[in-house]
Amino acid sequence: MNHSVTHIKGLLDPIETASIDELRNVQLQRLRWSLMHAYRNVEFYRRAFDEAGVHPDDLKSLDDLARFPFTMKSDLRDNYPFNMFAVPMRDIVRLHASSGTTGKPTVVGYTQQDIDTWADVVARSLRAAGAHAGDLVHVAYGYGLFTGGLGAHYGAERLGCTVIPMSGGQTEKQVQLIRDFNPDAIMVTPSYMLNIADEMERQGMDPHQLKLRLGIFGAEPWTGTMRTELENRLGIDAMDIYGLSEVMGPGVGMECIDTKDGPTIWEDHFYPEIIDPISGEVLPDGQYGELVFTSLSKEALPIIRYRTRDLTRLLPGSARPMRRIDKITGRSDDMLIIRGVNVFPTQIEEQILRVSELAPHYEIVVSRNGNLDQMEVRVELKPNAASIGSDGEQRVVKELSHHIKSYIGISTRINLGAPCSLPRSEGKAQHVIDLRHH
Ligand code: DLL
Repeated sequence: MNHSVTHIKGLLDPIETASIDELRNVQLQRLRWSLMHAYRNVEFYRRAFDEAGVHPDDLKSLDDLARFPFTMKSDLRDNYPFNMFAVPMRDIVRLHASSGTTGKPTVVGYTQQDIDTWADVVARSLRAAGAHAGDLVHVAYGYGLFTGGLGAHYGAERLGCTVIPMSGGQTEKQVQLIRDFNPDAIMVTPSYMLNIADEMERQGMDPHQLKLRLGIFGAEPWTGTMRTELENRLGIDAMDIYGLSEVMGPGVGMECIDTKDGPTIWEDHFYPEIIDPISGEVLPDGQYGELVFTSLSKEALPIIRYRTRDLTRLLPGSARPMRRIDKITGRSDDMLIIRGVNVFPTQIEEQILRVSELAPHYEIVVSRNGNLDQMEVRVELKPNAASIGSDGEQRVVKELSHHIKSYIGISTRINLGAPCSLPRSEGKAQHVIDLRHH
């Protein structure tokens, strides 16, 4: 082993360089603990396991997890606000909540130990992404009930970075602070990063002149094409961070800078499975399906076989022994079915980014005309293509509808707007407006 590898190894958590056998062993021990902890302390799990006729002692190998029942977002809602907690309220030091589109939010809780684990996995994530102690990190994920801001914040501090807790919104001020403080890294949703980049342009600033070298982007699906766009425009490495509140928050998985090939799941804390979303059957690694997580170390809110609705597949480890996930193609509840064809917003995003005159901001409007679904894609021209004239605009519209027709298989109406005519996101982008259910 050469000196530099030894040097790097010393900086990683021991489990990041463990063998697969060691990792599976840790997982099995922790899984036993987690199932028992849930069964003993949460009435919901005790009932669910009893009804399914399984007991934590039945788990002899990791594969036995398939015998345990799933947990859904609705289960957390039904136990609103605190009934899924496995520890007394006095041991809960933090609450977060995710706002669903309907009804009550999902509430999650953390013990001090959970907060420490979370800070550790986010620090590990940042290091995997190429950040290090001493970096100045601008956090533009929202602070508050959303896990993004505080999750990123504690992790960056844990790694030894200097944190700018900017939160989302106030785009002009974001740009002013980026100019004045000159951060090394930014943590933000990819859609809000685009918005910030537009504002930089508006202020006549060249992002390539900044020190910024790293973007840690997540909280919403984004494509490899979007990565290229962000990297070229900002002169940074654009890295994918994955997570969800029910499982922890940001940092459940993180892409490693050495390989840039999809988030490595920190499997020593979060055990992943891929299931067939219809039958619930566990699928082998490499096959696409719905991602399911079981927490292995969480105290306050143990989560057993949580159905994320995120569609992806598990890939073998590359930079780390832990498995990776492929880019999330979408959520099963975001999937549009247009005249029988399954369409994900990310597929439309890819096609838009292939047309050089188009900006990466878009909206997909779905409506129904009689019995027929109709899809309209609203896009806008890039500022430097604003004056291509009506012939140019017609060509652009034709090009995009041709790409969508030939790659996705549906006819769409394209509504081409002037630069900056579409609403901008300050957090998670809302790409779809479905008028069919109104
Ligand atoms: O979005 C946690 C987070 C904050 C992750 C900041 C990364 C960065 P929730 O609000 O509970 O938590 O939403 C979780 O967001 O199930 C996915 O559908 C989506 N999501 C999160 N990260 C990614 C990603 C946070 N990298 C839901 N790629 C998840 C695609 C993502 N989708």
